[in-house]
Amino acid sequence: MPKSFKIPSKSSNINQIDHIPNQKAVPWELPPIWKFDFDQDYQPLVEYVSRLEFIENMRNLRTKQNDLLDHDVMKELKQFCLTCCQHYQSEVRGSSHKILLEQSWANLANQGDSHHEHFHPNSYLSGVFYLKNDANTSITFHNNTLIERYFWSQAPAQDLEGSYPSRMDEVNFLAPAGCLIVFCSKMNHSVEIQEEDTPRLSLSFNTSLERPYGDYNGLTLIR
Ligand SMILES: [Fe+2]
Repeated sequence: MPKSFKIPSKSSNINQIDHIPNQKAVPWELPPIWKFDFDQDYQPLVEYVSRLEFIENMRNLRTKQNDLLDHDVMKELKQFCLTCCQHYQSEVRGSSHKILLEQSWANLANQGDSHHEHFHPNSYLSGVFYLKNDANTSITFHNNTLIERYFWSQAPAQDLEGSYPSRMDEVNFLAPAGCLIVFCSKMNHSVEIQEEDTPRLSLSFNTSLERPYGDYNGLTLIR
């Protein structure tokens, strides 16, 4: 799992399994969220994207153009994004099936802006690369289904106070500038309100699988 995964610390003073040696929790999110650091100079990209035309989006702004990773200046970042997606494909899916880049755009959040909870329809994996995030705002991933959110929430009636893995409806990822987060496109995610007067600039993209994929006899073939 990415190093930035955090389980909130327990506030309770009751921890009856402290005496058990060699124990450790396994942080588990399904599907996993992966974080990669881009080790090249991306400041020219910040300047390039900042000069593009932005239009109104829900609670923030986004670029009018939706093919940014196909721009010449983005060549290295595009390759990095594809390599990271293939790595995710290999590590998480156990597959080397080729991933294709689809649309790519940038979001700009000024003070008071946020990003509503959403997912990326018609995409396989998605990614977001942080070009500018001086306030170090995190991205939040939400559990998608009622059963994931509430299966353990109804019993027992008396519980310890604090935050526990089974009660986590969401997980926050710190997303400093220069990092790429790759995730399954069906996962709901959002970004909190930009409190400080330091605009946050990110570049997102969607992907698909090279055709054909799936299984003829399993009735899952896409030709
Ligand atoms: Fe998104």
